[in-house]
Amino acid sequence: MCGIVGAIAARPVAGILLEGLRRLEYRGYDSAGMAVLDQGQISRLRRIGKVQALADACEQQPLAGHLGIAHTRWATHGKPSEQNAHPHMSGERLAVVHNGIIENFEPLKRDLQQQGYTFTSETDTEVVAHLLDQELQHGLTLVEALRQTMTQLEGAFALGVIHADLPEQLLTARKGSPLVIGVGIGENFIASDQLALLPVTDRFMFLEDGDIAVLEADQIRVLDAQGQAVERAVTTFEHGQASAEKGEFRHFMLKEIYEQPRVMQAVLEGRVASGHLLEQAFGSEASAIFDQVKQVQIVACGTSYHAGMVAKYWIEELVGIPCMVEVASEFRYRPVVLPEGTLLLTLSQSGETADSLAALREVKDRVLATLAICNVPGSSLVRESDISLMTNAGPEIGVASTKAFTSQLVALMLTTIALGRRHGLGRDKEAELIAALEQLPVLLQQLLALDGPIEAMSAHFAEKHHALFLGRNVLYPVAMEGALKLKEISYIHAEAYPAGELKHGPLALVDKDMPVIAVAPRNGMLDKLKANLQEVRARGGELFVFAGCEESIQPEEGVHVIHLPAMPQVLDPIAFTLPLQLLSYHVAVLKGTDVDQPRNLAKSVTVE
Ligand code: G6P
Repeated sequence: MCGIVGAIAARPVAGILLEGLRRLEYRGYDSAGMAVLDQGQISRLRRIGKVQALADACEQQPLAGHLGIAHTRWATHGKPSEQNAHPHMSGERLAVVHNGIIENFEPLKRDLQQQGYTFTSETDTEVVAHLLDQELQHGLTLVEALRQTMTQLEGAFALGVIHADLPEQLLTARKGSPLVIGVGIGENFIASDQLALLPVTDRFMFLEDGDIAVLEADQIRVLDAQGQAVERAVTTFEHGQASAEKGEFRHFMLKEIYEQPRVMQAVLEGRVASGHLLEQAFGSEASAIFDQVKQVQIVACGTSYHAGMVAKYWIEELVGIPCMVEVASEFRYRPVVLPEGTLLLTLSQSGETADSLAALREVKDRVLATLAICNVPGSSLVRESDISLMTNAGPEIGVASTKAFTSQLVALMLTTIALGRRHGLGRDKEAELIAALEQLPVLLQQLLALDGPIEAMSAHFAEKHHALFLGRNVLYPVAMEGALKLKEISYIHAEAYPAGELKHGPLALVDKDMPVIAVAPRNGMLDKLKANLQEVRARGGELFVFAGCEESIQPEEGVHVIHLPAMPQVLDPIAFTLPLQLLSYHVAVLKGTDVDQPRNLAKSVTVE
């Protein structure tokens, strides 16, 4: 995925670039580098490892200069190494940073090698630097060379380019990968997202696919894919900067777990009033679209996919229309059947996940309409969908998604209500559901009070290598999300099963070294789940149960129970998620892993 940042200013830019990279580390963190133009020369510094390694190198070897580009990498082509770290150069006078994937880099590389270019890295990016140089050799200007190069590239990219002969210009271009321009006063910036630039500006310009922009300190020129000069709107960042700071918390993930009561308020704000959903929150065209929906197709990745699975239970139960859910990386590549009246619902924290975006683009012309539920206003998914609903969770920095998931669930319940209105969900039921949602801030606050007992429980997992999560019905996707959280940040192999499937295979794995975590709310499936838990106990498995019902499940030898406060049943998936987040968090802390930036992962996966 990688993060890129660039700056042109009257002041030295190295500090701005480093801070920007720190804020982009969620996109990848296996190496980092920067190139700064100073007194007619490009100085480049690259280090393997996190941005801090680059910051340390900058202390030893300060880079002066008012124009620069920088990069934090998540390796796709070529292992993490200093050679493969960006920026990449062609000769001494041209430097490039790139986010995305150049799919046809191999033939391009062969051609360039035949023409005498020497490659110093295994990356796809280096072809961009040499292609630019080749076009410059043909006498083109740098902007023309960039346009010409773009026509040769297949795949997705966001680029930052500087040239030693153009000390007043920072060039950028995007196609399929995210990039924003930060608009300053007498200085301008580029970055993979707005967060990276919040210390220097709160005004942003979003580029369209195929755009090239030329940034100078006091002007920005944008050319569209046809080479025509265009204006792109400047918007002001909506969230408080505070959300991007860790404050008193040890990790962003813990902070974001604790923010959830407030986030529940934010996602409901302006969307409900007097026991009713305000449908306009989805956009002015939403009502007309909802009127015609006959089924829903949800597409998402990772944690967002789990939220989609919860919505399937809700939509089929409360609306009574079919709802299909599929991971985007599968959906986009198969000939999907989309019956008439299908609403395509994409779910994404970032709104930039490559597979989700591609899935949307693939079928948008074949569906009734597209709805994006997303946490980032102005993201590609939002811009390219017919209607959208923001989850208003604020920036999520921890790679493991927490508040984004619970806020997606609330947004999905609001969507369920909107659709239900057309399919016999009465006013009373709507009012009952909304009254339940309005209890969430208080309920989640009560759940946070379980942090101590959950931390104590986490000690049982520190030495374990595997774990099984069980849930039934709408709590099955919650069990999946619990398992994903544990594996992402503690590196314990964890799988989730619908509890009824236990005897069809996974029971063979159960012994004293396989902790089994169960989510057991007070619902119609409780007795069946209890029977499944007996099956585990009978095989010597140790049980860790989050129970919604004091009377029915009691602790005993080998059975650890944490009781959740009473709550309306519809809130179960949201409420039972929070203790599982805390459990994973505490296990990871005990194991000493990098909680906010787990190995091999990245927050925003803008490559497929
Ligand atoms: C990455 C993140 C996950 C996230 C997934 C989908 O893998 O590490 O936490 O769930 O991408 O991201 P999205 O932004 O589309 O929700």
